[in-house]
Amino acid sequence: MSKFDKASRSELRAIAEKSKWFHAIDFGDFASSGRFPKGEPQNITLFGAMDLLGSIDLKGCRVLDIGSADGLASFGMKELGAREVVSIDSYDVPTYRIARKLLNVETDYRPNVQIKDAVSELGWKQFDVILCAGVIYHMLNPMSAFIECRKLLKDNGLLIMESPVGAKLKDPVLALNTELDDFMPEPSTYWIPSKSAMTGMMKLMGFDVCATRYLKAPTRLTVLGRAAPPAEIRDRNALLQQVHEIDFCDFEFRWSELAKHAGASDVSYEVDEFHRDITAAGESPAFPFQPQPREDAVGSTRWASAGGNFLQK
Ligand SMILES: C[S@@+](CC[C@H](N)C(=O)[O-])C[C@H]1O[C@@H](n2cnc3c(N)ncnc32)[C@H](O)[C@@H]1O
Repeated sequence: MSKFDKASRSELRAIAEKSKWFHAIDFGDFASSGRFPKGEPQNITLFGAMDLLGSIDLKGCRVLDIGSADGLASFGMKELGAREVVSIDSYDVPTYRIARKLLNVETDYRPNVQIKDAVSELGWKQFDVILCAGVIYHMLNPMSAFIECRKLLKDNGLLIMESPVGAKLKDPVLALNTELDDFMPEPSTYWIPSKSAMTGMMKLMGFDVCATRYLKAPTRLTVLGRAAPPAEIRDRNALLQQVHEIDFCDFEFRWSELAKHAGASDVSYEVDEFHRDITAAGESPAFPFQPQPREDAVGSTRWASAGGNFLQK
């Protein structure tokens, strides 16, 4: 029970007007200000995920939203038919609770839970679908997000992983942001992966890459992967095959450990194109509670750079 549960709609709107928002959320009669300037496409970094979620049949699925922030994606996935949505975040974000009450959507909110603690909090192989958007570059060890998601997903479950990527990075690398000449000016961004590092980390951790969506401004990549048996991973070169065959020498993840846990998913998806570039201009994708650009959005934001990541002092 949160302190917002007993508030009336007009009281909630008054609170929303005084709140700082990360997501722009359409509440019907009004919307919240997201972190992009008013009038511009909102929640742009989620456009790839919104597109891919439209090709997944979420009905009956148990879904995890990692780094849910204000909860737009969690609420949208519930509205799209998910049986249960669990949202975790490093912080307890009050705007999540305000938005959930305004939208009257049921979700399982677990604040103050980081990815590294998710398996002990939620258990192995519990989810059909995981969304992990805008999180890995905030982690000292981004690879561990892929590892923990493989443990959390049922066999054949789907992972949507989203991150900024370095447009100029050609090799499969994680660039250390603090050492880049054109660093992202945000103190909680430690790494900028290249596109091939994103898909490569997915494959290393036992995901068959099913689709990618690339956003050019800001440069972000969204990858859809299926928790597959290694033999079903596309583009698996001889070295990767060997890696999977010897099991991992780092005990943080081992196939033999994964195999001890039961849980298989029958979630289905149908992507029309393996790869697509997403343009930020134009209308917002059709996704529940995603607002069209509007000038009358309420509240403010402390996240206001054109890139959508810079924390204003
Ligand atoms: C950039 S926001 C992205 C929000 C949302 N997923 C989206 O894409 O719009 C990152 C969110 O992830 C949370 N976060 C950062 N590191 C995390 C971690 N290791 N585990 C869980 N949540 C984390 C932050 O508190 C923040 O709410």
